[in-house]
Amino acid sequence: MKSVSITPGKNNVGAYINDVNLNKLNNDLTGQIKDILNKYGVIFIKKQNLDPSAYQNFAKSIGQLVEYPRLKGLENFPYINVLERKPSDKSLAFGGSWLHQDTSYLEKDRPRYTMLMGIEIPVGQGNTIFSSGFNAYKNLPDKIKQKIKNAKGVFSSAGPISKTRLELEKRAGINSSKVLEAEHPIVQEVNGQKSLYVSPGHLIRIKNIDESENIKNFLIDHVNKEEFIFSYEWSKGDLVLWDNLSVMHKASEIKNCSRIMHRITIK
Ligand SMILES: [Fe+2]
Repeated sequence: MKSVSITPGKNNVGAYINDVNLNKLNNDLTGQIKDILNKYGVIFIKKQNLDPSAYQNFAKSIGQLVEYPRLKGLENFPYINVLERKPSDKSLAFGGSWLHQDTSYLEKDRPRYTMLMGIEIPVGQGNTIFSSGFNAYKNLPDKIKQKIKNAKGVFSSAGPISKTRLELEKRAGINSSKVLEAEHPIVQEVNGQKSLYVSPGHLIRIKNIDESENIKNFLIDHVNKEEFIFSYEWSKGDLVLWDNLSVMHKASEIKNCSRIMHRITIK
């Protein structure tokens, strides 16, 4: 099979994979997709409109599927979580307002990949915003790279992002008052590239470092810089898959409209 064609996202954040049909999977195609995902951290595949079984099938070709306890599953497809926004919803979208890496507050077995497919998409709003940990690391001053070499971040489920999640859980009748906390190196080696892993929505402090609070604030400002950001505009049927070690993401503001996304979490 010939190589699939790609187009890098704005600011070299992620890559679009062009002209593929995920209803027709083969090992060669999934191998190429994995390579692109490893290199770019997030991939965008337009207008796939997969039914739940084809969607789940593709996810299985990437890794092991994980049940996500904080969200409800689709009937007969427990690994597919439905993210639904109603016009009357007043709060921020799930995962809104803070860049983050999903479940960075888990010590072990952090699910590595998150995948979304757009089922019902409003026009002109609800972009998903990505920031590249690869590009952010590369563009750090050498002095900071030296400083953070062995630093560890403390990530908490009660970090700044928890407000939207708690509201959502309340609505779904889930009670998870237990705070989860984990430590991870803030420089991660991912497929031969270094990535800045700071999950601003969960990071509460940095260990093994002088001026910890200043460095924390500096790094959070850094990953939020315009030059590392790509705001992805959805169309119905689009599939977006990211590696939580190499990109951060957040939802953008969304108002007075319906949106449905199908989400799968992958180890
Ligand atoms: Fe998220």
